[in-house]
Amino acid sequence: MIGGTTKLFGLMGHPVAHARTSQAMNALFERNGLDAVMVPFDVPGGGSGALSGGAVNVMRRVGEDAFAGDMPDGEGFVAGLAAAGHSVAGRRICIVGAAGAASAIAVALVEWQPAKLTLINRSRERLMALHERLRLRFPDLEIVIGEHVGGHDLVVNATSLGLREA
Ligand SMILES: NC(=O)c1ccc[n+]([C@@H]2O[C@H](COP(=O)([O-])OP(=O)(O)OC[C@H]3O[C@@H](n4cnc5c(N)ncnc54)[C@H](OP(=O)(O)O)[C@@H]3O)[C@@H](O)[C@H]2O)c1
Repeated sequence: MIGGTTKLFGLMGHPVAHARTSQAMNALFERNGLDAVMVPFDVPGGGSGALSGGAVNVMRRVGEDAFAGDMPDGEGFVAGLAAAGHSVAGRRICIVGAAGAASAIAVALVEWQPAKLTLINRSRERLMALHERLRLRFPDLEIVIGEHVGGHDLVVNATSLGLREA
């Protein structure tokens, strides 16, 4: 029952109608007897208008006027791969997309030491920016810009195309 002591968690995004995070979190709160509720907020601009700064999707208040943030999507993706029996180490991996989801997934995948990472994206600017960030952070890995998904062991669709009705 929601009352004066209930802790409120917000899920911000745009679009947010497809996200299942609030259902999962509210079920978790209930299962664990926690007096908390998560509510989705559709914020055009993906929240960037409401919060300036780097890409984060989980935030915790630390003190009166500060937040600490993290982006666990990449780790979640790799955990999902492992649970489905797919390993990353030594594989040739291609990521299509170069925005927030692609960045988080790329960083998490690289930490599991693939043989090679290929990046593909529609717009060149975003592609180059992600390539540069990854190259600086992981200088020992072969990270290349590609055109085709062929020749890879694993191809990740990190574009927003999956949001469309089939
Ligand atoms: N945990 C999760 O399950 C989770 C978490 C986060 C996101 N997601 C999902 O991951 C997807 C991407 O999220 P995001 O935040 O990174 O999205 P985003 O910021 O909207 O980025 C969209 C990406 O898709 C590309 N793209 C969009 N339309 C395209 C088209 N018609 N042809 C080719 N490429 C196209 C964009 O390329 P350009 O650079 O050329 O525009 C960009 O790289 C979304 O479907 C989102 O819902 C899932």
